[in-house]
Amino acid sequence: MSKHKYIYIIVLIIVTLTIGCGHVVDSEALPEHPTFATDIAPILQKNCLPCHRENGAAPFSLATYAAVKKRAKTIAKVTANRYMPPWPADPTYTHFVGERVLTDQQIALIQKWYEQGAVEGSSGYSYEVPNKYRSSIGKPDLVIPFSPIDLKEGDADRFFISKTHVHLEKGKYISALEFVPSKFGFVHHVNGHFLLYADGTKNKPQRSSAMIEVNEGIDADVFKSLELEGNTGAMPFRIHSAFNYLPGVEGVQYPPGIGGFEVTKDFAAVMNDVHYGPSDANYTDKSVLNVFFSDRKPDRPTAELMLGTNGVSKIVPKLLIPANQKTKHVSRYTIAEDISVLTINPHLHQLGKSFWAFAIKPNGDTIPLIRIMRWDFNWQYFYTFKQMLRIPAGSEIVAIAEFDNTSSNPNNPNNPPVAVGERWDYGGASMRASDEMFQFIVTYTKYKKGDENISLEPKRLD
Ligand code: HEC
Repeated sequence: MSKHKYIYIIVLIIVTLTIGCGHVVDSEALPEHPTFATDIAPILQKNCLPCHRENGAAPFSLATYAAVKKRAKTIAKVTANRYMPPWPADPTYTHFVGERVLTDQQIALIQKWYEQGAVEGSSGYSYEVPNKYRSSIGKPDLVIPFSPIDLKEGDADRFFISKTHVHLEKGKYISALEFVPSKFGFVHHVNGHFLLYADGTKNKPQRSSAMIEVNEGIDADVFKSLELEGNTGAMPFRIHSAFNYLPGVEGVQYPPGIGGFEVTKDFAAVMNDVHYGPSDANYTDKSVLNVFFSDRKPDRPTAELMLGTNGVSKIVPKLLIPANQKTKHVSRYTIAEDISVLTINPHLHQLGKSFWAFAIKPNGDTIPLIRIMRWDFNWQYFYTFKQMLRIPAGSEIVAIAEFDNTSSNPNNPNNPPVAVGERWDYGGASMRASDEMFQFIVTYTKYKKGDENISLEPKRLD
C-alpha cells in the first residue's frame, strides 16, 4: 500500500471519529421512564406545533396527546431519520430565527418514550400551539382574501394573476406581510405587488377583485383586463415585490422602522405569478395575505440583492445540466456599500443537490451565510439571521450550487434524465419546476452603526 493510501486511511479514521463524536448519545442521561408530560411535550411544542396544528402547514395536527399517541410510531421514525422537523440549513454552520433541529439526545428520548408505550404521564402539563391564528406571526390586523382557484387532479403547472381591492379608513404603515396558502404543497411560488390608488375615492366596483389564468408570460392585455388603472386612467404607483412566497416560507416582521411601507387608504394587492405546481388532487385553494400594521414610519427601507438567475451576477459555468451528469456552479457579486443582512433565500429546483453561500471580506476573512448539504425542494425557507449581520463594502458574496441530473436523484422529474437548465422563453427565466434556477436572494438594509446588536427574533404579537 502506498504512503498516500495510509495517510488517506488515517485521515478517514480521524474524520469518522470526529463526525461520530457529535452523534454520541449519553443514554445514562435519559430519564428511565420518559413521559409525554415531562419530556416529549416541550420538544414537540417548539419543533412540531408551528406546522402540525389547525391551519398549519402540515396535513394533520399533533396538538393533543391523543393525536401524538396515534402517530407515535411514525413520529419516532421521521424524527430519527431527521425527515422532521424539516430544516435544510446546516446548524453547525449558521443559525437563524425559528431554527428547528432536534439534538441527538432529544431524538433518543423520543425513541425511548415510544418503545416504552408512549406514556402520557401526569396530567395538568402545558402543551399549546404557538398562536391560534392562521399565521406564524400572530393576530393579523387585516386578512386579504384572494379569489378561490380550482385545481384538478392531473393538472400540470398553472399560473394566475389575482387582484383584491382593499379600502381602509385612512392610509397606514405596513410592517409585515405573510402569504398563507390554504393547503401546503400546492402553491409553488407567488410574487406580489401593491398598487396604490392615490385617487381611490370613487373606485369602480369591478375593480374589487379578479383572478385570471395566464400563460407563464404576462402580457399587457392581461394587466388591462385586471383594470388596474386609477380613476384618472393612469397606472397607480406600484410597490414591487411587496410579498413573496415559496414552499415553507413563513412571515417575518423586522424591528420597528426596518422594512415595511406605507399604503394609501385605497389600494390593491396584486399577486403576480401565482404558480401552482402539478396537482395530484382536486382542490380549491383559498389563499390569503395577512397584513400587520405599525405606528412607526418605515424609515429604513429594505432592498433585495439577487445573485444568479435573473439577478445581478452571472452563473459560472452557465446553468445547463446535461443528462446523467452532476454539475457545480458559482455566482459572485461584490457589494459597494456596507450592508446589514436581514434574511437570505437560496432557491433551486428539483435537481438541486447542495447550496453554500458566504461572503469574503476585503481583508480575506469569511462571513458564513448558509450551507445546505441536502437540498430539499419542498423546504425553501427565507432564513432570517438572529441578529442583523454586517457585511462591509468591498466584500464578495459567493454562492455555490450543485445539481444532480442522474437517475439516482430521486427528485429528478425526468426518467430517463434529459438536459435541463434555465429557459428564457418568457422574457425572464422560466420558473417551471421542471426547468432549473439558481438564485441567492439577500434582503438587507443600509448598515448603521450598532446594527450588529439588533436582534431579529420576532416579538410575539399575542
Ligand atoms: C415547517 C413545518 C413542519 C414542521 C416544523 C414539522 N412538520 Fe411534520 N410535516 C410537515 C408537512 C408539510 C408534512 C407532510 C408532507 C411530508 O410528509 O413531507 C409533514 C409530515 C409529517 C409526518 C408524516 C410523515 C409520513 O411519512 O407520513 C409526521 C409523522 C410528522 N410530520 C411529524 C413531525 C414531528 C414529530 C415534528 C417535530 C419534531 C414535525 N413533523 C415538524 C410539516 C412540518
